[in-house]
Amino acid sequence: MGLAVTLLSYEHGILRQVIDVLNAAVEQGKTEGHRSRMTEVVKFLEVYMDQFHHGKEEQFLFPSVIRASPLLNEEIPRLIRDHQRARDLLTAMASGINSGDVHKFGDASRMLVEHMTAHINKEEGEIFPRIEAVLATEEGRRLNKEYRDFNRHFAPDYYGRSEEFAKRVQDEILGPRAFKGTA
Ligand SMILES: [Fe+2]
Ligand SMILES: [Fe+2]
Repeated sequence: MGLAVTLLSYEHGILRQVIDVLNAAVEQGKTEGHRSRMTEVVKFLEVYMDQFHHGKEEQFLFPSVIRASPLLNEEIPRLIRDHQRARDLLTAMASGINSGDVHKFGDASRMLVEHMTAHINKEEGEIFPRIEAVLATEEGRRLNKEYRDFNRHFAPDYYGRSEEFAKRVQDEILGPRAFKGTA
């Protein structure tokens, strides 16, 4: 995987882990008993998914792809609409958890899980390889520097903290070793 998308793919891994925990919590009826953890998950998704991850895609990766080639001109606006849809679902999740409406939270969470799983699969399986094919190595290098400069706006060691958060909520809500293959 080339420089333009390596960091973003790594970010997908942490995001997937938190989304999988959210999915299991909803499906196993564990959200009500873990309301404060669910509030933490919503806050994490607002910062990590929306601002940190989608922020980099929208501010740096997508504009550079559009400048480089017309081949993804139809796909990029769709991906941006996906991000907006995720933001709307997060707002509904926050409203559900804050008002104690378990059903609203559960419904919005299920939709977010499905929506973001499909979005990440599409980026990983189709979009990122196509982006790799149109961006020059030099552009990838420049993007990587932009990502890292942008990341300075977030907490120090934000990756380490995010990985710890994903592991902690998984252990607290589902118990240690809840998923096969997860240490
Ligand atoms: Fe995206
Ligand atoms: Fe992404």
